[in-house]
Amino acid sequence: MPMKKIIAANWKMNKTVSETKDFLRDFKDKIRNADNCEIIVFPPFISLLDAVRECENTNIKIGAQNCHCESSGAFTGEVSAEMVRDIAVDYVICGHSERRKYFFETDEIVNKKIHKALENNLKVIFCVGESLEIRENGKVNEWIEGQIKNGLKDIPKENLKNITVAYEPIWAIGTGKAINTESADGVAEFIKKCLADNFGAKAAVLYGGSVKPSNASDFINSENIDGLLVGGASLDAESFAEIVFAAR
Ligand code: PGA
Repeated sequence: MPMKKIIAANWKMNKTVSETKDFLRDFKDKIRNADNCEIIVFPPFISLLDAVRECENTNIKIGAQNCHCESSGAFTGEVSAEMVRDIAVDYVICGHSERRKYFFETDEIVNKKIHKALENNLKVIFCVGESLEIRENGKVNEWIEGQIKNGLKDIPKENLKNITVAYEPIWAIGTGKAINTESADGVAEFIKKCLADNFGAKAAVLYGGSVKPSNASDFINSENIDGLLVGGASLDAESFAEIVFAAR
C-alpha cells in the first residue's frame, strides 16, 4: 500500500483557544472521509490540550510548533518536549525559518531540539529551505545538504524514521509566490538522496510555501513530494479541507 500523504497546518501565532476549538469542530466534520492522508494541525502552545481533546478518535493529529532544547530548568517562558508529549501531542516542528530568523535558532540549536523531541517520543517535522539569494547564486543543494547534516547530527539511526523533512524555500513562505512544482520536486529528490547518502535513512518530504487549494494537487502529485506544510491557507477550515481533498 502506498504511504499516506501528510497534510500539515502550521498556524503560527494565530487563533485563540476558542477559535481553535471552533475551527476543529467544523474541520473534523468536513474531512471525516479523508482517511487516505495523515492530517496534522499545529496550533499555538496554549491551545494544544484543547486541540488534542477535540481531535480524540478522529484522523487529525496535533503537533507543537516548537519545544525547548533542554529538559527543564530556568528558561522563563519556554516549554519542553516532555511537557508537550505529556498531553498526548504527537509531533513538533523544528527548524522553521521564522524560528531561525526571529529567534536566532542556529543549526546547532535545531539539532539539540530534534534530539530532545525524539528522546521524548515526538515525531519531528524538520524544516529546511534556502533564501532567494542562495537560490540566485545556484547554491540550493549545498545549503540544504548543510542544514540536513547539521540538523540531524548524531541522531540515533533507529530514530530517523520519526523525522519528516519539510522543504520550505524562505522566499515562498507567506509571499503568495510558490516555487514551481518541478523545482520543488527536484529539491525533494535531492533531500531524499542526501538522507540516504549521509544517514542511510529514508524520510517523507513535504513541500511548504504559499500552498493554496489551487496549487496543492500539483505539488502532491509530484513524484518526490509526500505531503504539504501549509501556513496561511490552513487558517480557514474550508480552504484547508480543500487542500486535504487535493491529496486524495
Ligand atoms: P505559508 O507558510 O503557507 O503561509 O506560505 C508555510 C509555512 O511557513 O510553513
